[in-house]
Amino acid sequence: MPASYKILGPKDIDNPLDEKKSFALDILLSLSQTPKKLSSKYFYDTEGSKLFTAITELPEYYLTKCEFEILDKYKHELANLVSSNSFNLIELGPGDGKKTNLLLNCFIEKKFDFSYVPIDISESSMQTLIVSMQKSFPSINVNGIVSEYFDGIKWLQKTSHDKKNLILFMGSNIGNFSVIHARVFLRSLWNSLNNGDYILIGFDLKKDIDLMLEAYNDSKGITSQFNLNLLNRINKVLDGNFDLSKFRHFANYEAYSGAIESYLVSLTEQKVFLREIGQSFSFKAWEAIHTEYSYKYLESDIKHLADETGFIVEKQFFDSKHYFVDSLWRVNKVN
Ligand code: AVJ
Repeated sequence: MPASYKILGPKDIDNPLDEKKSFALDILLSLSQTPKKLSSKYFYDTEGSKLFTAITELPEYYLTKCEFEILDKYKHELANLVSSNSFNLIELGPGDGKKTNLLLNCFIEKKFDFSYVPIDISESSMQTLIVSMQKSFPSINVNGIVSEYFDGIKWLQKTSHDKKNLILFMGSNIGNFSVIHARVFLRSLWNSLNNGDYILIGFDLKKDIDLMLEAYNDSKGITSQFNLNLLNRINKVLDGNFDLSKFRHFANYEAYSGAIESYLVSLTEQKVFLREIGQSFSFKAWEAIHTEYSYKYLESDIKHLADETGFIVEKQFFDSKHYFVDSLWRVNKVN
């Protein structure tokens, strides 16, 4: 069966700017604000996707290990809960697909009839994923989409089908959304799904603060490279002259919001010129650029979030240390 992917272009989505122009505009706006910020969605160019895979292999980054343990332990139970004649398995942000492989193997063993639709913002990750899927699962129909999550979902709706859907939204990818954004996103997802469809969401749970901090301040400095790579990407795409040695990675836990928040802090007063935009940006010494939210959840937050967005929590799968949960939600559209 075919394994291929499609890049959603200007014609497929509502925003008709091409990729470079919309990147330039977004960077211009976000570096012109006080305080400055950059969106974490821009981490994942070829280099950034590689660095993220390296992060998932770090001893300090417990999230991937915990979720792997969960999927390995509960895949059969999960498969039995979601089993249906034929369905679409849609995954938001699969990355290297290592965790997904556990589920795919299990679904194939059970002779489920399904198509796999990975949606990922990174074309380089998608290429790698497609090649590895074709090799490991030649019998599965794979139709990848390179786009942001919601553009991908909207596009899928246009090519609509009345099959059941199982959405995988794992890895604490939801952690990048603020609480309000998570609510709006899940409600929009609810809107584009049918009664009885399922979504499996990976949440990182609130836990010992030092453990969480170490996961984002690893001893090898890979997370620092990952964060700084944002500036490299801007240099490459917008012909900029960010000097990476004049910025440092900083990640802190905000106990009140419940998020690890990441920053790039300017070590000196400096000016950076982005030729493609034709403008320079000034940084004061110790001025920070906010780059990422990684929200952590309480069990009660998760139940509340499901409730207010129209889902029923079917089952919660925890790892043995209770660091992480994969929460299976069912779309509830009756009454
Ligand atoms: C891929 C968004 C889940 O927030 O933990 C890892 C990205 N950032 N280390 C996370 C990330 C710094 C990761 N997510």
